[in-house]
This record gives sequence, C-alpha cells and structure tokens, in this order.
Amino acid sequence: MINLIIGGQWGDEGKGKIVDLLGRRADFAVRFHGGNNAGHTVVIGNKKYPFHLIPSGILNKNVTGVIANGVILDPEVLIREIDKLESEGFKLKNKLIISPRCHLIMPYHKALDEAYENARGKNKLGTTRRGIGPTYADKVSYNGIRIYELMNWKLFEDKFRFQCGIKNKILKLFGVASVDIEKSLQEYKKYAKKLSPFVKDTYLTLVDAIKANKNILLEGAHGVMLDIDFSPYPFSTGSNVISGSVHTGSGVLVSDIDNIWTVIKAYTSRVGGGPLPTELLDETAKKIRENGAEYGTTTGRPRRIGWLDLEAVKFGCDITGANRFALTKLDILTGIKEIKICIGYQYKGKRIAYSSCGYEELAKLKPVYKSFPGWKEDISKVRDFEKLPKNCQKYIRFIEKYLKLPAKVVSVGAERNANILSDNLE
Ligand code: GDP
Ligand code: IMO
Ligand code: MG
Repeated sequence: MINLIIGGQWGDEGKGKIVDLLGRRADFAVRFHGGNNAGHTVVIGNKKYPFHLIPSGILNKNVTGVIANGVILDPEVLIREIDKLESEGFKLKNKLIISPRCHLIMPYHKALDEAYENARGKNKLGTTRRGIGPTYADKVSYNGIRIYELMNWKLFEDKFRFQCGIKNKILKLFGVASVDIEKSLQEYKKYAKKLSPFVKDTYLTLVDAIKANKNILLEGAHGVMLDIDFSPYPFSTGSNVISGSVHTGSGVLVSDIDNIWTVIKAYTSRVGGGPLPTELLDETAKKIRENGAEYGTTTGRPRRIGWLDLEAVKFGCDITGANRFALTKLDILTGIKEIKICIGYQYKGKRIAYSSCGYEELAKLKPVYKSFPGWKEDISKVRDFEKLPKNCQKYIRFIEKYLKLPAKVVSVGAERNANILSDNLE
C-alpha cells in the first residue's frame, strides 16, 4: 500500500497530523522534496512535535523515516532535530535513512536567500530565508554539493572551498558579511561524522519495500499553490509539489501509488507574499488566526487568512490526481455566523480558471462566493459524522460534491486522535 499526501493549498494545511495518522499502519514515511522551509506538526496529548526535515510519521513505532534524494538538507537543522527527538526518547538508530543524493543547504545559500530578500525591498517574496531557492538553483546549475561529497571529505572540502569562494564574492556585492570558510569546514566535518550512520541508498530501500508489499507513506511538503511550475511564479517555493515530484524526488513511480490524498484546511492560510484571492483583512481573519494559532511552524510569522478557495483547491486536486481528501481545522470555524466558500473567479466580467491566472489576474479578480450558515457547538470532541451540527455536515458535503472526492478524514482538533474517520481509510 502506497499513500501520497499532498498539501492542497498554500502549505500548513495540517499535513503533519494526517501523516502521523496514516503512519499508524506504515512501515516507511518518506520526505521527497523541499527542505526545512517545511514545518509539520504532530500533537500527542499536550505535547507538540514540530518536524522540518524528519518525516512526521516517525513517531509511530514501526515506521522508518526516509529522507529521499529530492530533499535539500541543512545538516545543522537535521542534527538538531535528531538530537531533540532522541532526547525525548525516540531512538532513531536504524529508524532514519538519508539519501547520499540529497543536496546540502550551505551557509552561503542562507546568506544569499537573505541578501536577495533584503535587496528586493518592498517587492520581497517572503521566503523562509532558509536558503531554499539558492540551493535548488545551485543544484540545477551543477554547483550543488551532495551528501555524497560530505561522506567523501576530500571531495567535499575542494568543492566547498571553490563554491564558497565564489559565493563570498557575490555576498560582497550585496554588501553583506562573507562566510568563514575554515570555520564552516570544521562544522561540516562534525556534521559528516554525525550523519554518516544514517546515509544509505534510499532508492533501493524503497524498491525493496515496494517488492515486499510494505506500507509506504509519501509525505509531501508545502502546497500545490506554491509549486515551482504551477504557482504564479515567483510567488513559489523552489521545488515541484505536485505528484510527479515523488518520482524525481524518491524514485517511487506515481503509477505504483494507491491513494493520493490532498490535505485541505477548512479555510485558507498563507505565509509570505503573493496574491491570495480570498484573503480577509477583518475581525474574522483575526479570530481565525488566533483560534487556529495561525503562526508559522518554521518562522513564527503570522499567517494570512482567507475563506476556503475551492476554485484553487479543485485545480490542486485535479493536477495531483487526488482520489480523496482530508479536511482539517474545521473546529476553528465554530462560532462564525456566516462562512463563505469561493466557488469560482470573475475577471473583467468573465469567469477565469485558476490555472489561467498569473499573479496580476489573481490579485485583481473577484471571487464568487457561496454563503453557509455557521454552527456554535464545540465539535472538537465529535468522532461521528452524524453527530456534527447539521450546518457543519452541509459544509463538508458541499466540499465533497464540488471536488467530486470523498472526505476520508475530518480533523476537528490538533491532537492526534481528534478525527472523524471514514470506515475505510485505505
Ligand atoms: P503542515 O505544514 O501542513 O504540516 O501544517 P502545520 O503543522 O504547519 O500547521 C498546522 C497547524 O494546525 C499545526 O499547529 C497543527 O497542530 C494544527 N492542526 C492540524 N489539524 C488541526 C485541526 O483539525 N484543528 C486544530 N485546531 N488544529 C489543527
Ligand atoms: P509546509 O510544508 C507555508 C512559502 C514561503 C514563501 C514561499 C517561498 O509547512 O506546508 P521558500 O523559503 O520556500 O523559498 O519560500 O513559499 N512556503 C511555505 N509556506 N508552508 C510551507 O511548508 C512552506 N514552504 C514554503 O512562506 O512564501
Ligand atoms: Mg507547515
């Protein structure tokens, strides 16, 4: 059984929680793209576990975490994450493997991300400043350095000196501090030692797992609306997010996947710049942000809030080939008198599809809304669909009908068990 989980909006839909849930039956949980711009949260009881690079499924006893080749990796962040989990009693020896093909995020990538953002001034994109764009840029221009080299110190040292020398010249042009080559080399030597027990060919591990009929969970990061090709570029992240990224990022064939889940938040949130057609700037947004704790898991930035945008979400489901979805954070809409859903876009008096919009159109169009009466009852303890308030049921049924997909999980709280599950999760 292979399940793929994809963020259906602008990220932070609650993927971590759904991966943890499906992880109960999994043997492997696999990250296959992006880096520590991702922040996925699992909540067990009162304890919050934020993940940036380690797959969120790993808290389940039988799960091996796989960081596959498509991930770009900041070793400092990964080691911190490993140490933190181990200090909390989760032993990762033989439970986490990392592909030698992963490209490394270097100090100069982070410095460049920062320098470009600052130079853009009021046109800044709002990146996470984790070095994502510059690392992927180096990867495709043959200037990247992989874990492979980190495991072969001489190769690493030569490449690092060369690349860092060039990047320091660019940083000088920006008028910012250069990277200390010798100090960085010392740090990376320590990282190499610490990470070496985890490095393994993840492709072969996954091929063998598929042959042995193991249960594999592919954990997408970010959201479809941030896909490097299918978003209104440059308001994007550095990687593809749609299903095809599984193949390039892990070697797993899309045709081998049994279920493609999109995770959809019951409203919209976005961190960073770029158009957001259903954005709310009023008291309702404040209420949703506070009740939903909509502050970045990675950067702590307040997230922008809007109504659920089904025009965009439908595009996301279609392009990922989703056959089901998980609806999250429905509890956060409790107490809102009138809830709206965007069911299409109007631009210059005509309907326009999400896919045909660039950032100019997305910024100027008018969303077409359908209104729904809200509900007042606390739904966070509800575990049966029929026990949800009728208005809440109608909200879910409308989304299912619009997307022509079943809601297999409805999440009504941050805690791991706060779910309404359909009988057959597989
Ligand atoms: P991800 O990046 O998609 O994994 O999502 P994040 O972890 O960045 O953000 C989702 C936040 O919502 C986290 O703090 C989760 O603990 C929380 N969360 C997930 N599902 C629910 C839910 O159904 N209700 C509530 N109240 N919180 C949720
Ligand atoms: P998860 O996996 C929300 C956004 C950033 C910024 C843009 C580019 O937690 O859902 P980058 O640092 O990637 O170059 O920034 O992409 N972004 C995310 N927003 N959740 C994420 O991941 C994101 N990953 C990238 O906020 O707007
Ligand atoms: Mg997140």
